[in-house]
Amino acid sequence: MTKVLITFVSKSNILNMSRTIAGVMNWGKWGSGLSTEDIAQLLSSLVDNNITTIDHADIYGGYTTEKEWGAGWKASGITREKVEIISKCGICYPCDERPQFTIKHYDYSYNHIVSSVERSIENLQCDYLDLLLLHRPSPLMNPVEIGKAFNHLQERGLLKKIGVSNFTPSQMDLLRNHVTIAANQIELSLNQLDSFHNGTVDYCYAHDIEVQAWSPLSGGKLFEESSDYDWVTTRARIKEVADKYGWGLDSMSYIFLLHHPAGIRPVVGSSKLNRVLTSKDAEDIKISDSQWFEIWTACMGHRVP
Ligand SMILES: NC(=O)c1ccc[n+]([C@@H]2O[C@H](COP(=O)([O-])OP(=O)(O)OC[C@H]3O[C@@H](n4cnc5c(N)ncnc54)[C@H](OP(=O)(O)O)[C@@H]3O)[C@@H](O)[C@H]2O)c1
Repeated sequence: MTKVLITFVSKSNILNMSRTIAGVMNWGKWGSGLSTEDIAQLLSSLVDNNITTIDHADIYGGYTTEKEWGAGWKASGITREKVEIISKCGICYPCDERPQFTIKHYDYSYNHIVSSVERSIENLQCDYLDLLLLHRPSPLMNPVEIGKAFNHLQERGLLKKIGVSNFTPSQMDLLRNHVTIAANQIELSLNQLDSFHNGTVDYCYAHDIEVQAWSPLSGGKLFEESSDYDWVTTRARIKEVADKYGWGLDSMSYIFLLHHPAGIRPVVGSSKLNRVLTSKDAEDIKISDSQWFEIWTACMGHRVP
């Protein structure tokens, strides 16, 4: 494979975003079904509380949420420079909005990336994306083609930064000769610690790739009754630590992620203002490393060696 080094408009991978990111996967058809007015109101309250970064993906709501959110944002009257917008591309799945897809698959061809970003920007009515993420790694991804698509979009002013999601270190290596990766959005929570063990968080930290933690509350599993014995016992240990310090399970999840030196940003999924603000409030709660290890030990079920 010939390596082509691409010169980007912006080589820096420093992101100017709020520490708490509001994820909108559940704001539309896949969750709360917020109206245009609801979206406008929630967004205004978030921005008033300095939560200014919004996480989208083209597929949310079966490819409908970006457009609904765009209408809500316009109704709010909030100007472009007051928010940072993330979106993702690459997952193609058959649904009413995309009947041409016959099987769920990934597409990182030049044409798909470019047309997907153009469509997201049109639906969001946002002129440019602050960050585009490749949603899931594909066994067929071609880093040269991906680099060319990103370069083209950045030169047209449609993208500020580029990143990935759910990528392992070797998958990031595949891209890094062709793309400056600003962020990797990965699943991280008290119930999902794999990326701390398999080198993904270390790799990002070492290469100035920001870690964004999706499903920081395990998608709500932290609060649900479960018949999974292992999780029930783990959850009981976690709750014991939370109770000891007077934290809610949600607060403790955010405190745990925010304490990490890599500067992890939680991507919070609730569409209820007070619940999103729990993450914002946790930004001000400082803990000791010993307290962090109390939480870690509860999650792991044993002391560190
Ligand atoms: N990159 C990726 O592959 C990927 C994958 C999945 C998600 N994401 C992003 O990550 C964001 C967050 O994901 P997520 O929604 O799974 O995250 P989450 O924040 O872990 O979970 C949200 C769920 O927890 C519930 N919840 C929150 N606080 C609660 C509380 N105090 N008590 C009871 N239930 C509570 C919410 O219910 P309510 O809504 O009723 O508050 C909602 O159902 C998404 O919006 C999306 O932007 C990215």
